[in-house]
Amino acid sequence: MKYATTAKAVSCVLAALIAHASAADTPYYSLSTTPSGPVSQAHVPQFVSYSFEPAFWGEFFGEPSAPRNLTFALLKHLHERGARPIIRAGGITMDSMVFDASQALSAVRTENAKGGIYRTTIGPAFYDSWDNFPAGTTFVSTLNFGNDSLAIARGLAMASHARQAPKIAYYELGNEPTNYPAGRWRQNTSAYVAQWREFTGRIDAAVVGASLGKWWASSATTDVTGLRVRPSDLIPAGINSTGEVGQYSIHSYAFATCDQARAARATTANLLNHTDLTRYADVEILPSARAAMDAGAAWVVGEFNSIACSGKPGVSDTFAQALWAAAASLLYAARNATSVHLHQGATLAFQSDQQLNTPGDDGSPGFSSYALLYPVASSKRGPARVLPVFVSQLLVAEALGGGSARIAALATPVGVKPSEFAAYAVFVGGSGAPVRLVVLNLRPYYAGQGAAVGALVLDVGPHQGATVKRMTAPSVDEKDAAKVTWAGQSFRDGDAVGNVTVETLGPRGQVVVRDSEAVLVTFS
Ligand SMILES: *[C@@H]1O[C@H](CO)[C@@H](O)[C@H](O)[C@H]1NC(C)=O
Ligand SMILES: *[C@@H]1O[C@H](CO)[C@@H](O)[C@H](O)[C@H]1NC(C)=O
Ligand SMILES: *[C@@H]1O[C@H](CO)[C@@H](O)[C@H](O)[C@H]1NC(C)=O
Ligand SMILES: *[C@@H]1O[C@H](CO)[C@@H](O)[C@H](O)[C@H]1NC(C)=O
Ligand SMILES: *[C@@H]1O[C@H](CO)[C@@H](O)[C@H](O)[C@H]1NC(C)=O
Ligand SMILES: *[C@@H]1O[C@H](CO)[C@@H](O)[C@H](O)[C@H]1NC(C)=O
Ligand SMILES: *[C@@H]1O[C@H](CO)[C@@H](O)[C@H](O)[C@H]1NC(C)=O
Repeated sequence: MKYATTAKAVSCVLAALIAHASAADTPYYSLSTTPSGPVSQAHVPQFVSYSFEPAFWGEFFGEPSAPRNLTFALLKHLHERGARPIIRAGGITMDSMVFDASQALSAVRTENAKGGIYRTTIGPAFYDSWDNFPAGTTFVSTLNFGNDSLAIARGLAMASHARQAPKIAYYELGNEPTNYPAGRWRQNTSAYVAQWREFTGRIDAAVVGASLGKWWASSATTDVTGLRVRPSDLIPAGINSTGEVGQYSIHSYAFATCDQARAARATTANLLNHTDLTRYADVEILPSARAAMDAGAAWVVGEFNSIACSGKPGVSDTFAQALWAAAASLLYAARNATSVHLHQGATLAFQSDQQLNTPGDDGSPGFSSYALLYPVASSKRGPARVLPVFVSQLLVAEALGGGSARIAALATPVGVKPSEFAAYAVFVGGSGAPVRLVVLNLRPYYAGQGAAVGALVLDVGPHQGATVKRMTAPSVDEKDAAKVTWAGQSFRDGDAVGNVTVETLGPRGQVVVRDSEAVLVTFS
């Protein structure tokens, strides 16, 4: 049935479940492959994208002549699957970033005694390092709005344009204006729009029109602040009245460790509550997405992750983060986000004065525990390594098939809790039958539960030659990426370990999805 409680090993339990489900009298869940909501736009290979905090560029990507191979190995796995992530060199530190043509290193942080970064100086190497990315990679050139200096912002635009114009997909002026000092625009949306247009217009003139129509606009968080500058606020306020905007960007963080009250809510169980993830997407993000789509414009989740203020060790550095990242990315894919940029970086002591995370005692970065990887060894996070979340990026990339796929949510089967379940059908071309299905069983299965593990036995109907790839780990709280697999392969040190393992559907078209597991079913 649904929840086995035998004392056998998990694989035996699953084998038993399959056998059991095959018996004619066994209840199993029927998964309808008819969409329960709208089918999305056709996705582009850029859907799975990233945002990297510029202050830690050197740690994540190395220098032009000494690339950080661990990070590039991960990007290579995505490119091999047809994905073409856009790299946003952005985050809070872009708002105190300055360009210095005489600096040799890509990025140098200037910090106070507590590790607060009040300036990030980048040199030509910052842009030159873009040549180390896989062919076809494009970037968002981010500009400092925080210092309220046209000279600084224009300097960054001109430096990036001079070195990498063909690789710049978009320009972005300022990160999360919702978090700026309240006096900057006196909570006046029009004042923000006026200054944004003045800066972008002058920068367009300086880079001879190259940035016209290539700006990201908004970059707001969903925090409730006096300054209302989400896309749903900026579009009616005329942000694009001079034709500057290419796409609308909004940031998505449903949880946070920026203060103790929110840190207490950032649990594995809450992170994997699909009813709540859907509520956040529909209440906080969709109105801005809708405003963009109604204007005929593309919208992106320009920065997102599970838990703001650098994650929560024990939650965001476990396999739970992989399940969350797959669930959140697919929610936004189904709602027509053109790209979603999973944020990477390290603790910033200036983010909040009550946050849970801190930099290392020796001044080394306290890498964000929601990151894909710890790119270098650090006192806070230990050896360089890939984290369990990485496999989710492969699942989403393969589900969307490197571009042109449309996806639609499927109804939760009767008898399954909607808070613990998500499923999508993937379509290629106009209409017809789905080519793939993604199923997430988000019910937490913790290590301490031992053999008390449940599984969903789903009937998707007989499909000759259908195959199944599985994203799994010993438990939801697994922290060792060597034990976390996608189609049988793990990626702790960058390279794939193990052979690709593809299962076949049971004879009656049933697939078993253990608690805290996801599958991609591909019809032939
Ligand atoms: C996404 O775009 C498609 C058209 O490509 C449209 O039919 C669908 O309604 C849109 N979805 C949402 C949530 O607006
Ligand atoms: C990184 O990869 C390059 C190119 O394959 C290689 O020459 C270099 O030795 C590698 N660096 C390290 C630290 O492994
Ligand atoms: C930019 O603003 C920050 C924060 O106000 C300040 O610490 C820094 O010195 C400024 N940088 C420059 C180059 O003006
Ligand atoms: C808001 O800013 C606009 C543009 O700068 C200005 O015309 C308007 O008077 C301001 N409104 C208030 C209430 O200050
Ligand atoms: C902004 O306006 C220009 C000129 O009208 C238009 O071409 C472009 O599509 C608009 N951008 C967005 C994001 O709506
Ligand atoms: C899941 O989230 C929904 C919506 O926020 C909430 O009503 C429900 O109580 C949550 N479920 C659990 C088990 O926490
Ligand atoms: C992977 O496949 C190869 C070739 O079939 C086989 O020799 C090898 O033993 C397999 N490795 C593992 C870890 O199963």
